[in-house]
Amino acid sequence: MSDSPSTKRIAILISGRGSNMVALADAVRGGSILDAEVALVVSDRPDAAGLEKARQRGIETLVIERLGRTREAHDREIIAALAARKIDLVCLAGYMRILSSEFINTYRGRILNIHPSLLPSFPGLDAQQQALTHGARISGCTVHFVDETLDGGPIIGQREVPICKDDTAESLSARILTEEHKLYAEAVNIVLANRNEN
Ligand code: GRF
Repeated sequence: MSDSPSTKRIAILISGRGSNMVALADAVRGGSILDAEVALVVSDRPDAAGLEKARQRGIETLVIERLGRTREAHDREIIAALAARKIDLVCLAGYMRILSSEFINTYRGRILNIHPSLLPSFPGLDAQQQALTHGARISGCTVHFVDETLDGGPIIGQREVPICKDDTAESLSARILTEEHKLYAEAVNIVLANRNEN
């Protein structure tokens, strides 16, 4: 925890395992993401395994479920939680919901997502299987800004991963995930550095 006014406050939104959240939190703690603090982890699912990993790291966690509400009402509760904690940057990390336009407008240019393909190829679900089905020889991962398009916002960074002849969706996903963890921290650093210049 840092009190410096230049310290950027990051919120990470998850729905599941949370390995990218862990990678970001550990990069902040290890000093490879500078001048930042992971101030909050939000999950829309109470059973997300990542919640416990965040708590173990001393990070505040919140479960904000959709509970039959509209997307807009659900997102409004999340926006209020982020605003109350003066969040500067929102990182989606396996967050399995589409954001409302109010959410995107409130944090435009300050919401990042990680996707397990070289966008614009293979947006949407099961990107690794899509790459295999198409016979791609190379895939990878992308960190991009979130806008109204599905996995279509401006790209911040990418890493390539080779596809092997006998790859399954599981083996390819594991190889890509290793690169995701490095890429996400790099991308957050790039975004924070650019914001400091403005
Ligand atoms: C990652 O492959 C990420 O690219 C995708 O969902 C997966 C989340 O994994 N958006 P984890 O929860 O970060 O372990």
